Amino acid sequence: MAQTTILITGSNQGIGYEVAKQLLSHPNTHILLCSRDKSNGQTAASTLDPTLSRVDPITLDVTDDTSIAAAAEYVQQKYGKLDILINNAGINQEVEYMKEKVKTLPPGSNPLLDIHPSGEDLRNLYRRTYEVNVFGAGAVTESFIPLLSNSARPNIIFVSSHTGSLTLAETGSTTFQGRQVGEAKFKLPSFPIYRSSKAALDMLLLHYANRFGAKGWRVNGACPNLTATKFSGGMGRPASESAVNIVKLCFLGDEVKDGVNGVLSDEEGVVPW
Ligand SMILES: NC(=O)c1ccc[n+]([C@@H]2O[C@H](COP(=O)([O-])OP(=O)(O)OC[C@H]3O[C@@H](n4cnc5c(N)ncnc54)[C@H](OP(=O)(O)O)[C@@H]3O)[C@@H](O)[C@H]2O)c1
Repeated sequence: MAQTTILITGSNQGIGYEVAKQLLSHPNTHILLCSRDKSNGQTAASTLDPTLSRVDPITLDVTDDTSIAAAAEYVQQKYGKLDILINNAGINQEVEYMKEKVKTLPPGSNPLLDIHPSGEDLRNLYRRTYEVNVFGAGAVTESFIPLLSNSARPNIIFVSSHTGSLTLAETGSTTFQGRQVGEAKFKLPSFPIYRSSKAALDMLLLHYANRFGAKGWRVNGACPNLTATKFSGGMGRPASESAVNIVKLCFLGDEVKDGVNGVLSDEEGVVPW
C-alpha cells in the first residue's frame, strides 16, 4: 500500500503533536512534523519516532514566505506529493494581552468583557493573530496545492474553532441539529480578534472546498473544543480527545463514498458556520 504523506503545521506540541501521534497508529502514514523552531521539531519528532523512519521534522513558520517555500521545495524533492495538509498552527494573542492588563482592572471586573485593546495595541493584536491564523493558513495552502495535486486523494483540513461560528455567536444556542454543540458563552462578546480570525479561516475552508470539490478533493474543518495546551494555558480536555476528529477527517474518504467536502465538524457531528 502506498505511503500517505501528511503535513501538520505547528505540530511540535499541543493538538498538532497529538494528531501526529495518533496518525502513526494507522498503517503507511508518514508524518511531516512542522515547527517554527527547528530544535523543538527535532525533539518532538524523535520522541514520536526515535528512528525518524515515519516522522520527518520540517521547519515551517507560517508567517514567513521563504520558510513556506523552502518547506514546499523540500517536500517536492523528497516526496514529490502531499496527500493531506493539516493547517493546525494557531494563536490567540488576546489571552497574553489580558494576562498583562488584568492587574489594572478594578475588583469585580470580568477580564473577558472589560479589557478592550485600542490603538497600536489593537492593530498589533490583529496583525499578529491574522498573520498566523488566516494569512499563514492561506499562504501554506496555496504553496502546497501543486504537491496536493500530485496525490491520488488530496485532503486539506483546517483546524478552526466553535468560537468562530457566526451562528453560535449570533444565537448563543447550545444545540444544533438536535445535539449539544455550543455553549451559551459563545454569545459573549469576547476574543473578537481570535474569533474573527477563525470565522475568516472558515471562509478559506469553503473557498478551497468549492475550488477543488468537483475534482474529488476533501476540504474540511475541525473544531477541537477547549483543550489543555499551551494555547489555553492548560485549561480544557486532553489533546488526545481533540485530536480524534482531525484524525477522522484524514480518512473520511476511506469510510464514506466520495468523502465529505466543505464541512465544519467536531467529533460528534456538524458545527454550524
Ligand atoms: N487549545 C484549545 O482550547 C483550542 C480550541 C479550539 C481551537 N484550537 C486551535 O487548535 C490549533 C492548535 O492549538 P493548540 O491548542 O494545540 O495550541 P499550542 O499548543 O499553543 O500549539 C500551537 C502550535 O502552533 C505553532 N505556531 C505558532 N505560531 C506559528 C507560526 N508562526 N508558524 C508555525 N507554527 C506556529 C506553535 O509553535 P511553538 O511551539 O513554536 O509556539 C505550536 O506548535 C490552533 O489553530 C488553535 O486555534 C485550540
